Amino acid sequence: MCGIVCYAGKAQCSPLIFEALRQLEYRGYDSAGMAVQGPDGVAVVRSQGKLEKLAQALSGHPLPGTVGIGHTRWATHGKPSELNAHPHVVDGIAVVHNGIFENHLELRRDLMSSGAVFSSETDTEILAHLVSRALSTTGSLKEALRAALHEVRGSYAVAVLGRSEPGRVFIAKNASPLVVGLTEGATFAASDVPAILKHTNRMVFLEEGELGVIDESGLSLETLDGQTVRREPKIISWSPVQAEKEGFKHFMLKEIHQQPRVIEDTIRGRVSVETGQVAAEHIGVDETAAKRIRRVVLLGCGTSYHAALVGKYWIEALAQVPAEVELASEYRARKPLVDPNDLIVAVSQSGETVDTLEAVKVARAGSAHILAIANVLDSAIPRAADGALYTHAGPEIGVASTKCFTAQLAALFLLAVFLGRRRGTLGAEKAMELLGGLLEIPALMRIVLGQEEGIAAIAKRYASSKDFLFLGRTLSYPIALEGALKLKEISYIHAEGYPAGEMKHGPIALIDENLPVVVVAPHDESFDRILGNIEEVRARGGKVICLSTVGAPGIDRLCDEKIDLPSSLSELSPLLSVLPLQLLAYHVADFKGTDIDQPRNLAKTVTVE
Ligand code: F6R
Repeated sequence: MCGIVCYAGKAQCSPLIFEALRQLEYRGYDSAGMAVQGPDGVAVVRSQGKLEKLAQALSGHPLPGTVGIGHTRWATHGKPSELNAHPHVVDGIAVVHNGIFENHLELRRDLMSSGAVFSSETDTEILAHLVSRALSTTGSLKEALRAALHEVRGSYAVAVLGRSEPGRVFIAKNASPLVVGLTEGATFAASDVPAILKHTNRMVFLEEGELGVIDESGLSLETLDGQTVRREPKIISWSPVQAEKEGFKHFMLKEIHQQPRVIEDTIRGRVSVETGQVAAEHIGVDETAAKRIRRVVLLGCGTSYHAALVGKYWIEALAQVPAEVELASEYRARKPLVDPNDLIVAVSQSGETVDTLEAVKVARAGSAHILAIANVLDSAIPRAADGALYTHAGPEIGVASTKCFTAQLAALFLLAVFLGRRRGTLGAEKAMELLGGLLEIPALMRIVLGQEEGIAAIAKRYASSKDFLFLGRTLSYPIALEGALKLKEISYIHAEGYPAGEMKHGPIALIDENLPVVVVAPHDESFDRILGNIEEVRARGGKVICLSTVGAPGIDRLCDEKIDLPSSLSELSPLLSVLPLQLLAYHVADFKGTDIDQPRNLAKTVTVE
């Protein structure tokens, strides 16, 4: 996730900005840069890689001056490189940006047709061009930024400085965090509290659609429509470590709560509810190619494998093409048959998992089209594939994957709709309904996350259990697998996930009064049958923890514990039902006092055999 730091004061700012960027390293980044208003205008230094690289570049080109902006970039549009690193400078105007401008392609086309020359592949550079163009008519950087922001759509936290207005940094926010830190004789701004907490605990948090100016005397704030805003600073009492976690006890918990935003970011700019279309032309599957597909093979490991299992249901239902899911470690170990009319989809949040990468290389021999679904731009698996559909979850720090899983689900759903439309198996009306339902998911996720207290209480009651069983049918079966995996990873409690229909073929022997059975039972087509499975568990004394749609008939009396899911399109229930399972695993582990963010024996990215 990108980081922003700004300083306006009397001190030489380059070392201050550099140190503040260091405080954001935990968020992950692939390049960094800084722009300072110096004696000769705005000067910039950027580098690909870690901050040490930026330090080396700065020692060759020091940036004297007392007003500046800095950035660490996590690539989303344009690969990690020095040219794509921020700040982007156009006509002496420097811009840093967190977030995504949805309409960057059309704006870029428009700017280029009026002569703008771009030096990067980023969506951010368009803002520098827009501000520069507006400055010639407005004459003021603040008004130019306001005009430019009226042209962009999407999420942003931005900071802008220009040679025409020394001593000031212009900042604005929409759906991406930005905070101003006040001190005597200097003002900071940053995307995250930890960056500037060392200097001040007096902070003003910007709200959506606000535009501010910082200088050495403080902050002046207004709305994008020009209404003055007065906001008292808050006194932040977080320790630096608490601040990194934004007040959450663990990164995993913070990431669980980030999921509504992550889904918004992953679908942003890619769906049109009005036409029922998904914009994914860049994956290299045109209508002819889509119609030629005879089979989709999804590959992944661990949590990504579970996402792929959900993807299989969606692809078969919407694109009407057989889909198979394979564990990448098994696929690479045999000699799979690959047909040129297969579509291979490799799912990997890190994009670096060696089993998935090797599986892609094995599939490559069969000359099928290979698509990567990954969270890290330009990582090894997308590079080895023919096309990539990126999730926009930002870096995930907790080893147990949470937000990357739901982002993968969102991407797979988009892929299924895209293929369905291109193959002619999914009509516009149904697609409009499905995409409309997807757009509602972030708000529904917030409702589920609002039940955390109750889920924590359930976790406490069952935290001393030795084993757990998780059951689900159809779309909820992979969610049962994922719930079991999360629990074992971070609480070290043995857990099994099963398709509920399989229970009578073996696992039912495990059930007694000491076995909590978590049943994922949204009110869908499998609901009546899963009620039958719950009865079977109860008849043998098992304790039943149910997740079901609020108001679903006949289930409450069967459960020892009940967690409500808001009603949604039944196709999309996995995006909601996994959240209570993440929270359950988290709170069981927290109660047991395990090392939640770095569970024993596990690595975040498995690049070894
Ligand atoms: C579980 C988890 C792992 C990963 C697996 C694949 O919480 O994170 O099971 O899902 O190692 O990793 P990626 O998605 O990076 O290929």
